[in-house]
Order: sequence, then C-alpha cells, then structure tokens
Amino acid sequence: MKLIKFDVIDSTNTYLKTNYESLDNLTVVTSEHQTNGKGRLGRTWVDEDDLLFSILIKENIEKPTDYSFLIGAVLVKVLSNYNPKIKWPNDIIINDKKCIGILLEGVTKEKQECVIIGVGINVNTTKFPEDLLFKATSLRNESNKRIDKESLLEKIIEEFINEYSDYKNKKSNYLNIVRNNFYLDNKDISFLYNNKEEKGNVQGIDDEGNLIVKTNDKILYLNSGEVTLSNIYKK
Ligand code: BTN
Repeated sequence: MKLIKFDVIDSTNTYLKTNYESLDNLTVVTSEHQTNGKGRLGRTWVDEDDLLFSILIKENIEKPTDYSFLIGAVLVKVLSNYNPKIKWPNDIIINDKKCIGILLEGVTKEKQECVIIGVGINVNTTKFPEDLLFKATSLRNESNKRIDKESLLEKIIEEFINEYSDYKNKKSNYLNIVRNNFYLDNKDISFLYNNKEEKGNVQGIDDEGNLIVKTNDKILYLNSGEVTLSNIYKK
C-alpha cells in the first residue's frame, strides 16, 4: 500500500482517475484540502477540517458496487464508538446526521480498468452552513474532542486492507456488517424508479446489495446504480 499526500489538490478522486495506470492496486491519496471536491449526483464536496482520501482498486473489480458496502463496513468498524449507521448505498450517518460521504467512481475502456473509492469524513469541522445545520455533523461535534486525522486514516487503511483481503478470498462478512448497522431499516422512503416517483417501506438488503422495498402493491429490488432516494419519512 502506498500513501500519497497533498496539501491542496483539485480532487483526490480525479487524481486517481488521471493517474491510475502508473499506480499500484491499493494506492491511497489524501489531501488537506480540495479545490474541486466532488460529491454524488454531480454535487460539489466543500471541505473544512475534514479527512479526505481516495483508494485505488485495480484487482477484483468484477462488481464495483460491492466497494460501497465494503468501505461502509470498514468505516462502521473503525468508528464504532460513534454508533454510525449506513444509509444505502453511500452515506454514513451519526445521530441522524450525515458525517461521511462516499463517492465511488471507475474508469471503463473495453473493460473495467479500476474502481476509485472516495471518502470525505467531517472530522474536526464544528460549524456547518445554515442549510446543513440539521443535516450534517462531524466526529468532533459528536464527541467534543479534536481528532487526529492522520491516525484515523491509518486505522481505516489497516482495516480496509484486512477486509479487502477477506473479500478477495470470499471470507468477508461485510454485507452482514452493513445489515447490522443499517440506517434505513423499516423507514418509509420515496425514490425515483423508471423516472417515476414511488414510495415504499425498506425491508432490508438482499445478497446482491439491492435495497428491498415494499410499495403498496409490490416488492422492488433497487439497484444502487439506478435509483436515487429522494426522501426519508420519519415515523
Ligand atoms: C457525497 O456524499 O456526495 C460524496 C462525497 C465524497 C467526497 C470525497 S472527499 C475525497 C474524495 N475526492 C472527491 O473529490 N470526492 C471524494
């Protein structure tokens, strides 16, 4: 495993997308700040005192979406003190607020070349913009302690390497870890399905990683690549 550090870069994901050919499997890139941090759905990721990193995967990439769950399982293990929950497919929630965003990207030519797992953790940020006040939190806000980002990254990488090696050997129980720390269980959600807004109740995650949702008249198995969750209704 090789760690590349920057003070400032446009985006750690973009760096790996551009340079993956000359880099080894499991290269990790981290930066203190990003000038063009990318979020999901074309959004930007604005950072303050966050831990930002991306992991390059070049082997065992037959099913890229597995890595959303694998990194989710790693993060809930490392941050277990905070009681984190995984919101399918990609966010990590603490105390009903988003603390971690994950952006999975890939490069595909004739075949899939690599998978890039981008992670942004709100670590020591204490103030969030008005519109995020009730939606976002940081590890520091949840613990009242300043956290050492370097040692946190070390722990995450160590755990990721273990979990990845179990995954390669088909020994990892990452999907069960996700199920046991799942934010959406039994929640009512709305989502876009075949361009239509639908509503349903979340029943769990199947063995392929699909979200099982019960609507009025049917059971749907939602694939993370095809579906956008638009809302969660609190009961
Ligand atoms: C989201 O919740 O929308 C995903 C956010 C992912 C942000 C991380 S920060 C490190 C890596 N580099 C990027 O440009 N994005 C990801």
